[in-house]
Amino acid sequence: MTASAAPTYYLTTPIYYVNDAPHVGHAYTTLACDVLARFKRLDGYDVKFLTGTDEHGQKVEKSAQAAGVHPQEFTDRVSQNFRDLADHMTFSHDDFIRTTEDRHKQACSEIWQRLFDNGEIYLGSYAGWYAVRDEAFYTEAELTEDPNGAKTAPSGAEVEWVEEPSYFFKLSAWQDRLLAYYEANPDFILPKTRRNEVISFVKGGLQDLSVSRTTFNWGVPVPDDDDHIMYVWLDALTNYITAVGFPETETSEYAQYWPADLHMVGKDILRFHAVYWPAFLMGAGLKPPKRVFAHGWWTNEGQKISKSLGNVIDPFDLVERYGLDQVRYFLLREVPFGNDGDFSHRAMVQRMNGELANDYGNLAQRVLSMIAKNCDSRIPEPGELTGNDTALFDQAVALLGKQRELMDIQSFHEALETIWAMIRAANVYVDAQAPWKLRKEDPVRMATVLYVLAECIHHLAILTQPFMPKASSKLLDQLGIAEDRRVFDAISGEDSMLVPGTELPKPQGVFPRFAEEQDAGAGA
Ligand code: MSP
Repeated sequence: MTASAAPTYYLTTPIYYVNDAPHVGHAYTTLACDVLARFKRLDGYDVKFLTGTDEHGQKVEKSAQAAGVHPQEFTDRVSQNFRDLADHMTFSHDDFIRTTEDRHKQACSEIWQRLFDNGEIYLGSYAGWYAVRDEAFYTEAELTEDPNGAKTAPSGAEVEWVEEPSYFFKLSAWQDRLLAYYEANPDFILPKTRRNEVISFVKGGLQDLSVSRTTFNWGVPVPDDDDHIMYVWLDALTNYITAVGFPETETSEYAQYWPADLHMVGKDILRFHAVYWPAFLMGAGLKPPKRVFAHGWWTNEGQKISKSLGNVIDPFDLVERYGLDQVRYFLLREVPFGNDGDFSHRAMVQRMNGELANDYGNLAQRVLSMIAKNCDSRIPEPGELTGNDTALFDQAVALLGKQRELMDIQSFHEALETIWAMIRAANVYVDAQAPWKLRKEDPVRMATVLYVLAECIHHLAILTQPFMPKASSKLLDQLGIAEDRRVFDAISGEDSMLVPGTELPKPQGVFPRFAEEQDAGAGA
């Protein structure tokens, strides 16, 4: 195997708990990674995109018990639902890891052993609060009492008092080194507001962390002490290095891909990724990841999404109802990435009809139909360019650079906004140039205007591929762009422009409108 010269980009989703069916929150995290993975591949990177399922711990064990099956049988079943979701959403991950796999158990034992050998782990006993739902330990000060007197974690999860022998990780000793890492790597935690929260949490002082449990069995045994199983978060976080071949670090993918470029997570699990994980890694003599991005949470029509409220949004239903590209677009366009957002049917339909069908769809449809009708279904030969023509061209050519900048900071909504500014400019240009009027009076000018527009759509369709793979590929088919000319290089080089005379297939709409009668009948 020869080493590839392309720069690498390794990105990961959290691994999902298999206690429940996948919902829109899970689809959202993976979607963001999928868009980024596709973007980087089109930009010439050697990408590794990892997702998977988190299958150990008390929460999963309890869910299996409730279902009356062995945890392994239970996790086999539920893990499959997450694979099905990934297929359904056409996620382009390169690996799907399950923490019950042997490769992962080996990696867990090894990281434990390294931490132990480095004096980072000691045996003690834990007495304190634990929330099974979060699989997290809490201090008394973090808890609140609900009206019935029950104590709850900041997440709203119920807590229980736990007293048992436990191994501890010396997290308290990592405060200064963590702060130094954040300082030296200002973009390690994004968005900035989240970074500030983490920094003040760490500045507030860290306590040693309980990293083993003895009161249940479903997990990876602690090396040389079978009475203990590893704390599920130490087990789960390790998946990110298992998947690149750890403990083998020289001859495996680890050498190529680690440290990871990006761990994408929800805001609720930032602390595990930005505090515990880098400390575990550094404690084991390994490098911490380059970035952790914490996105926000979705509500449904203004309400918190919860099983008990019965308002869980099923991503399978969503796609069935609105279409895959439409859902992919909406989720990343509606909310500034990093903020919380609200899902509503009305907003979904507005964007689908207004931005996809009207703005983008109509632009393409109008231009391609005029070319079919008036230019013998061939890319027209442009004449001399005016200032308006070159201004639009320049905007199209500048788009790729802007996309790179925005995608590098995971600003998906701004990336889409920038693309839409181009779409709107192209629509203004069509109206102003009115090529339909030029057919008789100035056919050369008509050909020029249609060429300029086709070239803009060419850029747009290449750049919308990561967000809307299917529709973009249909547009590229209609522009006669060969499969191997769809990478970003193909719109930045010398011979990047459309070739006049290229024969085009019959134009077809790619963004259907959501019909009003469907709209009227729609529930929340
Ligand atoms: N198993 C852990 C992660 C371990 S990673 C080493 C876990 N799993 S989870 O299934 O509960 O959550 C996975 C992701 O889904 C998290 O990033 C979480 O933020 C995200 N979401 C769950 N509900 C969500 C919304 N309502 N909205 C957006 N994302 C949400 O945590």
